[in-house]
Amino acid sequence: MHDFRYVGNQFHCEGVAVESLVQKFGTPLYVYSQRTLTRRFQELDRAMSPVDHLICFAVKSNSNQSVLRVLAKLGGGFDIVSGGELQRVIAAGGDPRRCVFAGVGKTEAEIEFALRRGVYSFNAESEPELQRIQRVAARLRRVAPVAVRVNPDVEAHTHAKITTGTYENKFGIAFEQVEAVYARASRLKNLRLRGLQMHIGSQITEVRPFEQAVRKVLPLARRLKERHGIEFFSIGGGLGIVYQPALASGAPVWWKAAGRNLLTPEKYAARLVPLLKPLGLRTLMEPGRFISGNAGILVTRVEYVKRTGRKNFVIVDAAMNDLIRPAFYEAYHEIIPLTRKRGAAISSDVVGPVCESGDFFCKDRNLPAVGEGDCLALLSAGAYGFVMASNYNTRPLAAEVLVHGRRAALVRERQPLKEIWAGERFAPWLK
Ligand code: LLP
Repeated sequence: MHDFRYVGNQFHCEGVAVESLVQKFGTPLYVYSQRTLTRRFQELDRAMSPVDHLICFAVKSNSNQSVLRVLAKLGGGFDIVSGGELQRVIAAGGDPRRCVFAGVGKTEAEIEFALRRGVYSFNAESEPELQRIQRVAARLRRVAPVAVRVNPDVEAHTHAKITTGTYENKFGIAFEQVEAVYARASRLKNLRLRGLQMHIGSQITEVRPFEQAVRKVLPLARRLKERHGIEFFSIGGGLGIVYQPALASGAPVWWKAAGRNLLTPEKYAARLVPLLKPLGLRTLMEPGRFISGNAGILVTRVEYVKRTGRKNFVIVDAAMNDLIRPAFYEAYHEIIPLTRKRGAAISSDVVGPVCESGDFFCKDRNLPAVGEGDCLALLSAGAYGFVMASNYNTRPLAAEVLVHGRRAALVRERQPLKEIWAGERFAPWLK
């Protein structure tokens, strides 16, 4: 479930009409539902309750500090991929001791910072990285908790740009090599071998790839527990969400039709808990999209409607710099008007103002007829939306709002235009 729906003819986030937010904060505008975030976290938490576990929210999917604070207050941990993300988590009130640090390119400075802050584990992706962590830890006279990311070489059946668990990718250490790596790492005095980690990809909508990967890695985890006393096994993130709901009378119906085949926390847990429980290790998960994806929308205003010989172009004030997923992955985001429209649908392309043909949100999609000034919501934009935004075409970053019941708060102001070039300097010979 999520908390965006029409009440009468007006599209609402929880108890707030989204149109009222547009009037107050303008467009393009990201709007997040605290209730959806909370419910998604709790559903997964509950489903996994038969095993000792920790949900580490993937900060990369949505790093707004209010979003992080909501999850920190629920007792969540965090999956971070940079020193910057760790600083954000700390600033938001998150506990570094519940953070796992992933990524193939951790710098010395990032390792030092994370070590001083006491992260739960460095999820190392190569032997040179383990050696670097050892060096930094020795210099600081500390012991660094580490896990190795195992690449299980299983196919996740998702988009090529977001699959990570096969040998085609840069991630992790090959399954066959992992034990030897642990044996060598166990001789490095300033490392503590704390766990084993994997992550096979993103937007996975069936439980089978997760189950395959866990089944394959389980004996390895058992041996590492016996030989090296590891205490956790992280099964990564990747749980997929519904982007394309079934349409009933013009309004999206999320869980009735489209949701029937959805990967629910219950289905996920029903298959994985029986495998994980006998292992006797703490289970970590790193969901991003599952928690934040359906919890956010991007609201945009129609600037022009342009009919060419063949097409109906709806030109809006948001663009690929605000939400790059359609341009980058040809991702589908449901698009609906904030005020419900009756009448025949028109095949339309919704496009942004950026000077690229790739700047589109949908192509040849049947949408209600809209005109200048109407507002549209792009649904399921809470994950990998704002966080992937850029200033391309010198467009300021959008504002973000968090809704809680009938309350709404600006949780990031619209970027002032001048801030975009504030760090630029004239070369001395041009002064
Ligand atoms: N853990 C690791 C090690 C990861 O690399 C990722 C995502 C996650 C957890 C969280 O995955 P999730 O639960 O959100 O699927 N920008 C792309 C997605 C990139 C995912 C990168 N890694 C998109 O918009 O679809």
